[in-house]
Amino acid sequence: MGVAGVPGTTTISPTAPALDPIIAEQEDLFLRRQPKSAAIGARARAVLAGGATSSWQIAQPQAVWLSHGLGSKIYDVDGTEYVDLHGGYGVSLVGHAHPAIVRAVTERVARGTHFAQPTEDALVVATELARRFGLPLWRFGNSGTEATMDAVHLMRAATGRDLVIKVEGCYHGHHDSVEVSVLPEADEAGPPERPVSVPGNTGIPQAFVDLVAVVGFNDVAAVARVLDENPGRVAGMIVEPVMMNAGIIPPDPGYLAAVRDLLHAEGALLAFDEVKTGLTVSPGGATAAYRVTPDIICLAKALGGGLPVAAIGGTEAVMGLISDGTYEQVGTFNGNPLSMAAARATLLEALTPDAYARVERLRARLHEQVTEVLRTYDLPWHVVTAGAKGCISFLDRPVRHLRDFHDIDERLGHLHWLVQHNGGVFLPPWGKVEQWLLSVQHDEEDADRFVANVATFAALVRG
Ligand SMILES: Cc1ncc(COP(=O)(O)O)c(C=O)c1O
Repeated sequence: MGVAGVPGTTTISPTAPALDPIIAEQEDLFLRRQPKSAAIGARARAVLAGGATSSWQIAQPQAVWLSHGLGSKIYDVDGTEYVDLHGGYGVSLVGHAHPAIVRAVTERVARGTHFAQPTEDALVVATELARRFGLPLWRFGNSGTEATMDAVHLMRAATGRDLVIKVEGCYHGHHDSVEVSVLPEADEAGPPERPVSVPGNTGIPQAFVDLVAVVGFNDVAAVARVLDENPGRVAGMIVEPVMMNAGIIPPDPGYLAAVRDLLHAEGALLAFDEVKTGLTVSPGGATAAYRVTPDIICLAKALGGGLPVAAIGGTEAVMGLISDGTYEQVGTFNGNPLSMAAARATLLEALTPDAYARVERLRARLHEQVTEVLRTYDLPWHVVTAGAKGCISFLDRPVRHLRDFHDIDERLGHLHWLVQHNGGVFLPPWGKVEQWLLSVQHDEEDADRFVANVATFAALVRG
């Protein structure tokens, strides 16, 4: 795997014999549509490392520089409008410039945005998260990375043990304890039933890698084996309850409850990384959707309605370690008043039952219509949706873990991304890895533009 987490070459799909020239043509069109982005990108490389503000913003063939967003649309510096299904890597569930967020943030800005002392909005947000996710005590941070870092620290603090179980293919942010086996190449990942722990970036000390035991998703026996082989050493397991950094991989029935029970039987804890799934797959995330409550839940992304905010929730036993001072959960910007005002408006005014019902109608429409296009073009792939999230899985069988995902030809995801982009729909780059995100401001016309582009893509692939 490259340092930026970009997946490597995989098996070439038999359904896609001549993709390279089609991709070259689409990349050419992409570049011709974006002269201003190209010019800004050239200037940027002199002052921003790599010419962007995060390594995963450097899409191929070039980063797209944006000017603004409104409702379900975003606009690039060349003035081109896109239906936004990128969603800022899972943030923009409320869409852009949602009136409730604009009002809440505007009011808060005028009254001061930072004190490093709590404001009452934090109470409202914590109360609503407790109601939605069924865990009593909460704290805040600023990014998903901070939330999962606290989760790992808390599991270790609570148990006095160091070893953490992590699922191969899950991404939990960029701290040392979880940047392991994020998207390992097939030839370095070891046997599926006993995956090797592979550093997911440069700069990760081997000592940290050695503290992470890697298992396959949906593999209950592997968790049992790690617990058996390491008696009294496992602090806990962190997992995306629906894997969302390898397309979308749902848990098998009973998987989440089975690993929770195994861990608890050994005095270890379970943390759900709901940074992507929380709020998007249901109002109470995967926790509510699958009716399995872990010891710790990590949230970020969609929670802030576009502002940086994270939350970590836990049981009385776990969060009691914070209350009694055993674990210091800290951060200058934790509970920042602006973020809290935005999170309050997001939860109480934007993500209402009606808004979720609208998203569900669009989910069903996309699922059905994209499936129909694939059938029409006799393509063996399938559509996977989970609430506001969805993707086309370019494989002829369901993907249950990373090893299935390895078999997907990554050029298909890239070509799909290009065709959508050139057709006025902005998806996340890194085609097969990421998924679309609907917002509460999308409508049928937006969905139809996406479906029409899928048909164009299918026709290109079919030649
Ligand atoms: C499941 C999951 N956890 C954690 C993170 C890290 O979040 P952040 O980028 O806000 O640090 C991400 C980011 O994509 C994620 O997808």
